[in-house]
Amino acid sequence: MNTILEELERRRAGARAGGGEKRIAAQHAKGKLTARERLSLLLDEDSFEEFDMFVEHRSHDFGMQANRVPGDGVVTGQGAINGRLVYVFSKDFTVFGGSLSKAHAEKIVKVQEMAMRNGAPVIGLFDAGGARIQEGVDSLAGYADIFLQNVLASGVVPQISVIMGPCAGGDVYSPAITDFIFMVKDTSYMYVTGPDVVKTVINEDVSHEELGGYRVHALKSGVADGAFENDLEALTQVRRLVDFLPLSSREKPPLRDSFDDPERQEASLDTLVPLNPNKPYDMKELILKVVDEADFFEISPDYAKNIIIGLARLDGATVGVVANQPQVLAGVLDIDASRKAARFVRFCDAFNIPLVTFVDVPGFMPGTRQEQGALIKHGAKLLFAYAEATVPKVTVITRKAYGGAFDVMSSKNIRGDLNYAWPTAEIAVMGPKQAVEIIFRADIGDAERIAAREAEYKAHFANPFVAASRGYIDDVIMPHGTRRRLVRALASLRNKSVQNPYKKHDNIPL
Ligand code: HXC
Repeated sequence: MNTILEELERRRAGARAGGGEKRIAAQHAKGKLTARERLSLLLDEDSFEEFDMFVEHRSHDFGMQANRVPGDGVVTGQGAINGRLVYVFSKDFTVFGGSLSKAHAEKIVKVQEMAMRNGAPVIGLFDAGGARIQEGVDSLAGYADIFLQNVLASGVVPQISVIMGPCAGGDVYSPAITDFIFMVKDTSYMYVTGPDVVKTVINEDVSHEELGGYRVHALKSGVADGAFENDLEALTQVRRLVDFLPLSSREKPPLRDSFDDPERQEASLDTLVPLNPNKPYDMKELILKVVDEADFFEISPDYAKNIIIGLARLDGATVGVVANQPQVLAGVLDIDASRKAARFVRFCDAFNIPLVTFVDVPGFMPGTRQEQGALIKHGAKLLFAYAEATVPKVTVITRKAYGGAFDVMSSKNIRGDLNYAWPTAEIAVMGPKQAVEIIFRADIGDAERIAAREAEYKAHFANPFVAASRGYIDDVIMPHGTRRRLVRALASLRNKSVQNPYKKHDNIPL
């Protein structure tokens, strides 16, 4: 008996050793933790249950039969985050660069299937060089199996990817299908192929950082939803994110005890909007002052900063916040902002998270760059996402709600449930200057007449009362009472039930 127990321990130790001391030391020297160290930080203490520790690859090509490591480059299993079940896989860069064999793929597919069956998120920690080159098509088929599960799980359980090393090929395509991608600054990279392959194929010299560092993906491409300083911070923040989410679309988001008075008033909000309509202010101040304990998990904070998205709580219940940011490009809706917000709105809708929308938007961004980049299609994504969403939707217009952007930003007519405006709201087809220059073109040379026309236009539209008198706004509210009104609105919508017409699926403009 003792011998068999010793055998088990010996085999376990072999799996835990991964690619060996030298490679583990190299991993640490790069400022990266190992696959197992990462899981121990991500999960509650002593909650990890590992699966398939003894799985090995089955390849005989290129001398691989003599080169097997138990676990085969990925650690998989289940664990808990603040007591709630999650499924995990963590790529081990010390074993064949974390690359994916067929056996390695089967381990990941197993946790994906369990997660869907049992209704719990899947969190993948990536540090891997893509398809195991020695395995050829077996590896490609393994990726396809994972991609399929990613797609089937989309909208069923939350899927979170953390990029924690150089990741290529399938190890970026699988994350691309998941709900959130986070990176670690200066040690993680995402590209379809790495710099060496780029040099061979197109003779371009490029560094890992320039090709796929966090500056590329968290600031410019929008592929990543955020970047953190190091492994520890990234994993701590993923724990924080999971606390906001339901475990699956079969659940409502978790309720947490809140110590923040739901009736709390914020007098300072009465002066947040400057008297001059062209002066910016920080919409984040409103969000932080309204939500529980100023706890806001912002998503993509460094990309398309003209729109703010993220998760917060109101009276203990999770909400998704979407808000124009007048401080950046006057809060205009452009291609990047529309894509960023549309995907988030769809995520919230898929996981029963009510939407709170703060509006101060001068319209869609005009110009050739935007038109050539397909603003029409990208803007339509946000419109589509809001219109199809059946979760509770509460909207507050703080200042401008001009043109198509008024319609798009969760307006009453696309099934906004409760739509409020601050007294400072201006709801119109466009701003006074542009409007007057179009409808009173004959007066353009006459500065006095134009000024009078503008004043007339402002008096008519630069307020929320026309919209309120038509019922497009449910009420004009005092800024200081915003939190209280939102809490009450969401409480009244807790049992909202609305069905979209039967369909196989919709056809969102892509
Ligand atoms: C097998 C691999 C590997 C791979 C790395 N290794 N990538 N083994 N298959 N794909 C091994 C190396 O041989 C090495 O082994 C160890 O991992 C570390 O790799 P290094 O190159 O020394 O590390 P580094 O310099 O940090 O570079 C990391 C890297 C680079 C950027 C990931 O290895 C790289 O470019 N790899 C290939 C990336 C790629 O093009 N993959 C295929 C994508 S196609 P030793 O024994 O020395 O430790 C794909 C198709 C899927 O994934 C379908 C998509 C739709």
